Amino acid sequence: MQEHAAQAYGLIGDAALVVRDGRIEWIGARAALPGALERECGETHDCGGALVTPGLVDCHTHLVHGGNRAHEFESRLRGASYEQIARSGGGIASTVRSTRDASEEQLLAQALPRLRALENEGVTTIEIKSGYGLSHEHEAKCLRVARTLGVLEDVAVRTTFLGAHALPPEFAGRADDYVDEVLRMLPLLHAEGLVDAVDAFCERIAFTASQVERVFDAARALGLPVKLHAEQLSDSGGATLAARFQALSCDHLEWLDETGARAMARAGSVAVLLPGAFYFLRETRVPPVALLREQRVPIAVSTDCNPGSSPCTSLLLMLNMACTLFRLMPEEALAGVTRNAARALGFTDRGTLAAGLRADFVLWDVREPAELAYAFGANPRRLTVFGGRPR
Ligand code: NIG
Ligand code: FE
Repeated sequence: MQEHAAQAYGLIGDAALVVRDGRIEWIGARAALPGALERECGETHDCGGALVTPGLVDCHTHLVHGGNRAHEFESRLRGASYEQIARSGGGIASTVRSTRDASEEQLLAQALPRLRALENEGVTTIEIKSGYGLSHEHEAKCLRVARTLGVLEDVAVRTTFLGAHALPPEFAGRADDYVDEVLRMLPLLHAEGLVDAVDAFCERIAFTASQVERVFDAARALGLPVKLHAEQLSDSGGATLAARFQALSCDHLEWLDETGARAMARAGSVAVLLPGAFYFLRETRVPPVALLREQRVPIAVSTDCNPGSSPCTSLLLMLNMACTLFRLMPEEALAGVTRNAARALGFTDRGTLAAGLRADFVLWDVREPAELAYAFGANPRRLTVFGGRPR
C-alpha cells in the first residue's frame, strides 16, 4: 500500500511540515527534518497519524444565487427535460428572477451556509461565478457578494464573470444585442475590481461559438483569462474555441471529441468534470476520460454548485461520483480537487504541498488517501489550516 500511495499520491509516510508566515517552509520525511530548522520552530503539533492533504479547491461554482429550483426538480420527475424547461422560460431564467429580486444581504445570507458546508469538508479556495444577474447592476451585486464571502470566511475566493450564461428576458430574441451588453458590462466590472476570469455557456440553449468568441476577445483585451462551459449537452465546438484563447479550463465536456481534446492539450487547458450535474440531469454520456488521459489533459473535479443542475455542497461526494460515474481512479479524483483544480483557476501557489506554497492543508482521520473517494456521505475532516492558521 505504502509504495502505491507514494507513487500515486506522492504520499510521505511519517512526514513533517514546517510553516512560516503562512507558507510551507519545509516538507518531507520527519527523519530528514534539519535539526536547526526544528529548533527554530516556535510551536510543534503532533498530527497523530492523520493524513494531510492540500486544502481542497472547488474550481467551478455558481454559489451566489437567489432561491432554489425544487419545483423544477419536480417537473423533471414528471417527465420534462432540462432543455424543455429552459426553453419555456424556466431554468436559468427562473434563478435570474429570484437573484434580481434579492438584496445583497439576502444573497449573502443564502450563500453563506453553502460556503460553510464546503469549508466544513476542507475547501480552502473556491471559484464563484456570476451569471444569474445578467445586467450590470445585478452581476455587480453578485460579484460583490462573492468578494464579501472571501472577507468574512477563511477561504480564498476567485470571481468569474459569466455574463454570457443565458439570455435575460429583456433581450429575448436578441442574443447578439445581449452580447453587446456583456461587452459593455465587462470593462465596468473589471474596473470595479470584481473580475478574476471570464466564462461563458456555449450551447444550443445558450450562446454560439462565434458569440462566445466576441466575449473572449474582450476578455483578452483586458488581459483576463477565460474558461468555458463547453460540450455539456451537445458538441458545439466550444473546447476548440476556448483552447484558441488558452483557456484555463473547459468544463462539463460530456460531448468533447478528439479534436477538442487535442486542442485543450496543446493549450494546457484543464478539463473540469462535474459529476453532480451529470448525475442530477441523469445524463447518460460520460466525458471521454480515456481520451483526456491519452492526450494528457489535466483533469479537475468540482461541485458546479448551482440551483438548476447541481444543487450540491459536497466536494467529497464529487470525489466519489467522479470515480463511480466517470471511472476516475481515486488519485485522479484527489488531484482533481487539489493540484488540477488550482491550475484551473490559474493558481501556482497552492494545490500541492511543497516548500514556498501557501500553507493551506487539511488533516483527515483516514488511513489511506483512497478512503476520501471511497466513502460517500462521510466527512473524516479533523482540522483545516488556512494560510498557516488553524481555522
Ligand atoms: O454549470 N451549464 C450551465 N450552467 C450551470 C447550470 C445553470 C442552471 O441550470 O441554473 C451548469 O450546469
Ligand atoms: Fe456551471
